Amino acid sequence: MASNSIVDQTLVEIGAKSASEIKLLFGARRNDFDLDLQGCSDFSAFEDLQVKWIGRKSGVLVKITENWLKLAPKELKPIVGQAFNELKTHIESMFEKRRQALEADFNTRAALADRVDLSLPGVIRPIGSHHLIRQVLQEIEDIFFSIGFSVVEGPEIETPYYNFEALNIPEQHPVRDDMDTFYVELPKGTPCPLLLRTHTSPVQIHTMEKRQPPVRVIVPGKVYRRDNPDATHSFMFHQIEGLAVDADITFCDFTGTIDYFVKQFFGEAVKTRFRPSYFPFTEPSVEFDASCIFCGGSGAAPSGGTCGKCKGAGWIELFGAGMVDPAVYGFVNYDPKKVSGFAFGIGIDRLAMLKYGIDDIQVFFQNDVRFLRQFP
Ligand code: FA5
Repeated sequence: MASNSIVDQTLVEIGAKSASEIKLLFGARRNDFDLDLQGCSDFSAFEDLQVKWIGRKSGVLVKITENWLKLAPKELKPIVGQAFNELKTHIESMFEKRRQALEADFNTRAALADRVDLSLPGVIRPIGSHHLIRQVLQEIEDIFFSIGFSVVEGPEIETPYYNFEALNIPEQHPVRDDMDTFYVELPKGTPCPLLLRTHTSPVQIHTMEKRQPPVRVIVPGKVYRRDNPDATHSFMFHQIEGLAVDADITFCDFTGTIDYFVKQFFGEAVKTRFRPSYFPFTEPSVEFDASCIFCGGSGAAPSGGTCGKCKGAGWIELFGAGMVDPAVYGFVNYDPKKVSGFAFGIGIDRLAMLKYGIDDIQVFFQNDVRFLRQFP
C-alpha cells in the first residue's frame, strides 16, 4: 500500500522540507482516503477502512502522528499540525457521513424485505359446507318446527325390548327377519343383548315413557340394517321418526300433517297417496307415495320410454306410517281409550335422492368432494 508505506517514513526521509511540499503530502493522503471511501459499499468494508485509517495500533492517522508530526523539524511543526488536524477532521466527518448513509440504506432494504404487499392474493382456506343429508334434515326439521313439533334424540345402541318388543314385535314375529341386524358382542353372562337400532321407532317408546300426552316430536338419527349396499340401500342410513299423540288425534290430522310436509318439501305440484301396508306398531298402517318428481307422475321418461326412477308407476314410495297401534300404549302406560296418535318413519337419504335427482345412495357416504361441492 503506497499510502501506508509513505507514512512509515519520516518527513526528512521523504524529503519534504517546505510548507507546500507538506500540504501536497497531506492532500495526497486525503485523496487516497476519498478513493478508499468511494469503494466502500457495505458495513464489512467500512469496518476494514476504519481499521486502516483510524485504527489505534497502526492506522494511517496514528502513523502520521508518530512519523510525521512528532518527528517533524521544529519550524515545520505548526504547518504539519494544522494539515494533520484538517486531514483528521475530514476523515472523521466522512466516516460519520458514510456510516449514516450505510445505516439508512440498511433500514430501507430491511423495510422493503418486510413490506406486506396488500395487492398479493391472500391464503385462501376452503370453507366447508354441511353435507347434503344434514341440509335435508334441517329442511325437514324446519317444516315440522313450523307446525309445533320439537326434536328429541335417542340411543343408537338399543335393547331388543325397545327396538322390537315394546313396538309390538314379539320375539318370534316374522317382521324381525326383515330387520335382522347387528348385535353388539358382549361378555358372556350379560343379561340383555344389545343391537344397533334398525329404525328410529324405539325413540317413540323412550319419549312416551318420559312424557305424558300431548306429545309431538320428530326424531332424526342413524339406523343400521344388514342390507346389501345397492343404489337405494345402505347398511347405515338416516331416518326421521315422527310421533304425535293427544286426546283426539284422528286419521285426518295424520293425512293433513303428512300432506303439508310433502308439499312444503317437494312443492305444491306434487300429488300424494296412501297405500295400505303393515307395521306391527301402527294400525291402520300405510305406505306414503308421492307422484314421481322426475316424470311429473306420468310414468314416461321425458326422452321417451318408461321413467327409470318410478319404473313407469308415476309414484315413488316415500315412507311408512300409520295410527299408533293401541297395543303400543300398553307398553308405556298410556290409556288407549283416552289417547290416539300417529307415527311415521322417513328415510332421509331416499328423500334427498328424490329431491336432488341423485340416483345412487352410496355417493352420500363416499365423501367425494366433487359430489359434495355441488351442494354448497
Ligand atoms: C320403518 O323403519 C318403520 N320404523 C317406519 C315407521 C315408523 C312406520 C313409524 C310406521 C310408523 P321401513 O323399514 O319401511 O319402516 O323404513 C322406512 C324408510 O327407511 C323406507 O321408506 C326407506 O326410505 C328407508 N330405508 C329402509 N331401508 C333402507 C336402506 N337399507 N337404505 C336406505 N334407506 C332405507
